[in-house]
Amino acid sequence: MSLRLDTGTLRIIDDEREHVASNYSPLPVVIARGEGSWVTDVEGKRYLDLLSAYSALNFGHGHPEILAAAREQLDRLTLTSRAYHNDRLGPFAAALAELCGKELVLPMNTGAEAVETGIKVARAWGYRVKGIPADAATVVVADGNFHGRTTTIVGFSDDPAARDDFGPFAAGFVRVPFGDAAAIEAAIDENTAAVLIEPIQGEAGIIVPPDGYLRAVREICTANNVLLIADEIQSGLGRVGTTFACDREGVVPDVYLLGKALGGGILPLSAVVADRDVLGVIRPGEHGSTFGGNPLAAAVGLRVVEMLSSGEFQTRATALGEHLQARLADLVGSGVTAVRAAGLWAGIDIDPAVGTGREVAERLLARGVLVKDTHGQTIRIAPPLVIRATELDWAVEQLKYVLDAS
Ligand SMILES: Cc1ncc(COP(=O)(O)O)c(C=O)c1O
Repeated sequence: MSLRLDTGTLRIIDDEREHVASNYSPLPVVIARGEGSWVTDVEGKRYLDLLSAYSALNFGHGHPEILAAAREQLDRLTLTSRAYHNDRLGPFAAALAELCGKELVLPMNTGAEAVETGIKVARAWGYRVKGIPADAATVVVADGNFHGRTTTIVGFSDDPAARDDFGPFAAGFVRVPFGDAAAIEAAIDENTAAVLIEPIQGEAGIIVPPDGYLRAVREICTANNVLLIADEIQSGLGRVGTTFACDREGVVPDVYLLGKALGGGILPLSAVVADRDVLGVIRPGEHGSTFGGNPLAAAVGLRVVEMLSSGEFQTRATALGEHLQARLADLVGSGVTAVRAAGLWAGIDIDPAVGTGREVAERLLARGVLVKDTHGQTIRIAPPLVIRATELDWAVEQLKYVLDAS
């Protein structure tokens, strides 16, 4: 079944291509409005959004409480730069630190900036606290990682599409297999400042490491005086049924990297969160961002943290995740070869006999369901945590139809 596109949609896509660089290959839908778990395109067709902007829309489109916080702040003060104080950053940082059980917050904007900041903090901690010789600090990372798109970050990726032709890359990273704690232990030496991992790898296809992995990594880091940095930019803030994916194993990292949903789906807001003995190494003038910690983002972030503090969204993600996972499990063997899931987050491997992940995503689009393919045969879904069980059932029915019809 090929997608039939309306002429209005085609014209907008063609016009966009005239002036927008092709760094993405979007599905052919032009979205004009969003509300809760649903979006409407320029032709008036509605779609159930099962991607939530890669978890940035954990609370759905236009959550009234988050919109209210943004509107109130828009009328008061939006930007000061950190040349001055503003009256929103402190309350936001206090609330976020409490949510994380940590002391300090360093606010940035995008996820990649939080990762870059985490790496700088780890290196500075390595030299100033651990006593690693100058310029010798290393960070251990995992195969299959996705931490963003800056040149330093893609330099330690193993995805050719992310790194080819973008070198030369920064030194100081050692990559080991994901899910293998012994490999991390073997890679650590006296110059290792940090281990940087996603507790569950999102972009790689929702790869959940073996039980006990995070706990073992935590113990190895503690025993070797190495910082454990958890990139919870996609996995954190309620997605997997707990506030952080590390909570699933009762693990507390030294450093949390947060982003995406922290900005409530309204604006970019990321943060590095750690105790004073780690984040306190950064001195005035050593790091910053014009927009990082701006009052508009802080007001939105504060409301997001308040919403997460009740535990309501985590509980929803757990219950809805179990519901979804049970239905997806029924599809294995019928066009699906495997399902990996944690909370309301799933990677679904499509049988090549049915088509590629992209083809299935396009067929689902035609039936009013938005998902995203990754790495050829996988589609991943991260529905807004406000979605209803009946809506999930409907979406799975559409997937079943698409698989059966192929
Ligand atoms: C785990 C993880 N880290 C970092 C990033 C980068 O975030 P951003 O796109 O906001 O720079 C992403 C984005 O998908 C991510 O999934």
